[in-house]
Amino acid sequence: MSSDRYLLYHGLLISTVTHTTESLKYARAFPVEDTDVFVVTYPKSGTTWMQEILPLLLNGGDLTPVQSIPNWDRVPWLEETRVAKFVDRFASPRGFVTHLPYHLMPTSLQNSKAKVIYVTRNPKDVMVSSYYFHQMACFLDDPGTFQEFSDKFLKGQVLFGKWTDHVKSWRHTELGDRILYTTYEEMIQDLPGAVRRYSDFLGRNLSEEVIQKIADHCCFDKMKTNRMSNYSLVPGEFMDSSKSPFLRKGIAGDWKNHFTPEQEASFSAIIRKEMEGEELVFPWHSE
Ligand code: A3P
Repeated sequence: MSSDRYLLYHGLLISTVTHTTESLKYARAFPVEDTDVFVVTYPKSGTTWMQEILPLLLNGGDLTPVQSIPNWDRVPWLEETRVAKFVDRFASPRGFVTHLPYHLMPTSLQNSKAKVIYVTRNPKDVMVSSYYFHQMACFLDDPGTFQEFSDKFLKGQVLFGKWTDHVKSWRHTELGDRILYTTYEEMIQDLPGAVRRYSDFLGRNLSEEVIQKIADHCCFDKMKTNRMSNYSLVPGEFMDSSKSPFLRKGIAGDWKNHFTPEQEASFSAIIRKEMEGEELVFPWHSE
């Protein structure tokens, strides 16, 4: 592993292109406002998708920000360096994304009234998506073979550590009804339904017409052509979309095109063992 590409933060690998020790400290000390909304994801679980949906939920369906502001400034990552530069000019209610586990979130989160939407995705699809992302993201180590990357993923030797640790950390919070759990698969299956659930959770009270407008705008094909959301603004030296586009396939179950039956069996057995006792039911369990 190339040591100048990553820093280690509480045992988690983090990219040095977008993070510093200071930015991570800043996130921990961040003064959370009661109206803040945090979308939390393990990488490759639908972060960019939620960066499209959330502003529209918060502003009642006005497309202006998603058509004029790049996703990373529109709904910034709490732990990245950029956020400190403009957060003072950010209007409330503010939307953020983060890949942090619960115990590394701002200490002020717990006693605030801020809300959290936690998105989970089938770890097999997360791994496949991440495998391609590592091929196009020139600031990350080459993933090696599919099997090599899968081994690293299961050991947590990837950005933000183990998938299972992340998911478990967010299931044991003191946030009560201030956290909503959703899945990438729920959004794939019924985007208007998912948007309506998020709207109700955030107390937005949006009409069916606005819900439908948001869902229509946030479909994969529209986002793929939205330059503010498809990462085409990022210079080729950082992201080489000729190797793999950032918005790659946008489906559930692409793992079936990549795993052999043996790989699937051993991957699933490890995840199952590590999730023992959690009694979580996810849409992909019935596959
Ligand atoms: P794939 O690589 O499987 O296509 P993140 O934003 O957390 O990095 O996640 C990226 C994944 O979310 C990619 O998955 C990307 O295509 C998918 N994605 C982004 N927007 C989407 C949308 N509107 N519909 C479906 N999938 C979407």
